[in-house]
Order: sequence, then C-alpha cells, then structure tokens
Amino acid sequence: LAPQDYRDLVVLVTAGGTREPLDPVRYIGNYSSGKMGYALARAAWERGARVTLITASPLPPPPEVEVVRVQTAAEMLAALEERFAGADIVLKAAAVADFRPVAKATQKIKKGQQRELFVHLEPTVDILACLSRMKERQILVGFAAETEDLLANAGQKLHDKQLDLIVANDVTRPGAGFGSETNIVTLLFPGGRKEELPQLPKLEVAHRILDAVTTLPRFPGRS
Ligand code: PMT
Repeated sequence: LAPQDYRDLVVLVTAGGTREPLDPVRYIGNYSSGKMGYALARAAWERGARVTLITASPLPPPPEVEVVRVQTAAEMLAALEERFAGADIVLKAAAVADFRPVAKATQKIKKGQQRELFVHLEPTVDILACLSRMKERQILVGFAAETEDLLANAGQKLHDKQLDLIVANDVTRPGAGFGSETNIVTLLFPGGRKEELPQLPKLEVAHRILDAVTTLPRFPGRS
C-alpha cells in the first residue's frame, strides 16, 4: 500500500502535448503521449491527494481523478490559473508547444500551385513562469525535455522558472521520454543537489518524484 503522505493535498498535474492549430485540420504539436503525467496523477491519488489532471492527451485518464481536457497552451494556463489558488502542488509533465501560428486559417490551407508555405509563428505563453509569479505556498515541479546538455539546460530552467524541483529528461535515450512505458530522469533541486534515477516504469518514476517533493522544505507540514 502506498504511503498516505499526500492525504488531502490538492495536486494539479498536466499531461500530454499541447496542440496549436494552423487551420481546421492541422496543428503544431509534439510526441508527448501523456503517460508520464497520467502516472503522476495516479501516484498522487494512490498517496491520498485530491488530484486534478489537466490533459492535452487523448488517452483515457485514470478513473480516480478529476479531468480537464485542453488543447492549447493558453487553455492549459487558463485551467491552471482557475485552480491555482486552491492548490498545494503543481506537477508539470506536459510538453507545451513553445510556438504557435500567429493566425489560424479559417479554411483548410490548400496546396494549389504553391511550392513553399511560410508559417509565421509566435511564442506561446510560458505557463510555469506565469505560475511562478502567482506562487504563494504552492510547490512547483517542472520537467525539462532535453536532447543535449541535459543537466545544464535543466538547471537553467529550474532557475529561470523559479521552480522547487525539476525533472531532467534526456529524451534521446532508449526507454526514456516520449511515448515509452519507462523513463530515465535526474531530479535537480535548488542549491545544486541532484538525484539520478535508473530506468523505471513511469508509475515508479512518478512515486520517486513524489518522494522527492516530500523532502522539500516547503512541503506542507515540514516548515
Ligand atoms: O507524455 P509522455 O509520452 O509520457 O512523455 C513524457 C515527457 C517526455 C513529455 C515528460 O517526461 C517531459 O519531459 N515533459 C516536459 C516536456 C517539456 O515541455 O519540456 P520543456 O523543457 O520544453 O519545458 C520545460 C518545462 O516548462 C516543462 O515542465 C513544461 O511543461 C513547461 N513549459 C514549457 C513551455 C511553455 N510554454 N510553458 C511551460 O510551462
């Protein structure tokens, strides 16, 4: 039986890859399946938390948790903002599209005689940076999906987004990252402490992340 160390804590989890529409039939997206976020939602529920899963994944969600379906980064931010004041912990496993088309075509873009197509993109909102500015008691946990300089890039995001913990994920390793049943991650804490985890099923990774969160000085009941 899982420990009940999250009993009655309000946990928000994001999962899946956001999609930014280009026209009525196409979008800019990424390879996130949602499995890592769903595993976190399930693990937090097993440990007694009241969980809301904000998901951009089409996978069926774990039955025990409240589910909010979103598509774009802006929708994900809105869903989080609505619930943030009442939350204790935010676990942000979602892969958010960093850019979106400036304009969405109202009709399907036709190939016609065109030999090239230029799409004008603009940055999406940085959700974690917004939440950091709103933060009071909440603990914010981010992920960093990297293809090079894993620890340096993840450490930079930990600092820039003012997080309490970041899960560094080298998504080029077999058995890690997008779509797989397992993950291989390193946990980075403010102050430089790090904990490297072996390859584990995503549910087990999720429990190890939740274990790490309980060691944070701001974890409810610790300070
Ligand atoms: O879903 P799976 O198939 O199981 O795959 C799991 C995963 C690889 C998606 C997951 O383990 C992971 O690494 N998630 C983070 C993906 C990501 O967007 O990383 P990033 O390095 O681009 O972003 C850093 C952090 O900022 C993330 O917590 C992200 O949610 C957040 N972010 C990013 C962009 C943005 N506009 N707003 C954000 O809040």
